Amino acid sequence: MADIVREVGTPLYLYSGPLVRSACARLERAFDSYPHTLHFAMKANSTLAILRLLRGLGAGADANSGGEIEAALRAGFEPSQIVFTGVGKTRDELDRAVALGVKAINIESDGEADRIDALARARGVKARVALRVNPDIDPNTHAHMSTGLRFNKFGVPIEFAAPLLRELARKPGLDPVGIHVHLGSQMLDVAPLARAARVLADLACEVRDAGVGLEHLDLGGGLGIAYDGTAHADPAAYAAAVLPAVRESGLHLLIEPGRFIVAPAGILVGRVADTKAYSGSPRFIVLDTGMTELIRPMLYEAFHRIVAVTPTEGPEERYEVVGPLCETSDTLGHDRPLGPVAVDDLIAVLDAGAYGFVMASNYNRRRMPAEVMVDEGGWRIIRRRQTYDDLFRNEE
Ligand SMILES: Cc1ncc(COP(=O)(O)O)c(C=O)c1O
Repeated sequence: MADIVREVGTPLYLYSGPLVRSACARLERAFDSYPHTLHFAMKANSTLAILRLLRGLGAGADANSGGEIEAALRAGFEPSQIVFTGVGKTRDELDRAVALGVKAINIESDGEADRIDALARARGVKARVALRVNPDIDPNTHAHMSTGLRFNKFGVPIEFAAPLLRELARKPGLDPVGIHVHLGSQMLDVAPLARAARVLADLACEVRDAGVGLEHLDLGGGLGIAYDGTAHADPAAYAAAVLPAVRESGLHLLIEPGRFIVAPAGILVGRVADTKAYSGSPRFIVLDTGMTELIRPMLYEAFHRIVAVTPTEGPEERYEVVGPLCETSDTLGHDRPLGPVAVDDLIAVLDAGAYGFVMASNYNRRRMPAEVMVDEGGWRIIRRRQTYDDLFRNEE
């Protein structure tokens, strides 16, 4: 770590190739007994080197925007390996996906179905589509991470799904190939996923009886990790929960994990910029990194373990671990026990590989951090830190 930081500086995202591989392998093993494809949710981390690593492991991609489709292509994925999700896809994005012939465009509404149909007919092709349903199932997670409840903006309410699928099959520009659901993220309980699998399988059987033959069920992502260092959600329990229903459908299974694969494989490394301890106020550790690099604590009240890279012997104190930004909510950890900490010490924020760099911003004119991959006995920079010239490149 000291060598890397000497060369690359801080803040810095550091990823472990072996941890990405092992998480992927655990999921693959869990679903071994049933035909399935893992489509990595690029929204969790779309750095090209990470995508290439996953492509090499046989994964497909789940893209959520035109930019993510572009990233998938640049990482070497074929269009037939990309599913395209997104609640507000523009006509340009849809047309690009139709032109490429992606594996499935996950349809969010009947209006969107009409737009895809028109775009496909204009090109003289049939677009492969899946219907994203909203099953009104509570994922038991943070409210900001729920996507499958009736009042969430995603998908078509389940009772409208069967008639809409029958209608899709009648449209000349559409080839309905699947049903899609995504309940939410950071789910530690697999029971809601089992209920969603049952809903999808029943729907597939219902429309099959009405003459609409599909290829796949896409269960989305959502498997949670142990941010507090205790037990992860278990891929084997996940598979055991969803496979009975999926098996009855006989359809190929897609899953779209993001966080489970990359969160534990990444850490954010910062340096202590200042410390403050005044009687009557909390003790503060001010880092050179904060919400601009990792917004999850602020956005989701998320807990990330924070550790000293080289712990110093001595009594523990409780600290507010904060960032350098001009925002009170720029706090990475509240009331955290740490040993003696001095300016220039290195601090690591754990489990930061998902929804970390992808949500980074230039707020306060900060430069996006560097990213480093540790793999095969060495390390390499996979994204250089932005320069100040990068920051001003698009401005008059
Ligand atoms: C459609 C879809 N698929 C997959 C995912 C990945 O979720 P996770 O990172 O929790 O596995 C998300 C995340 O929100 C999503 O919206």
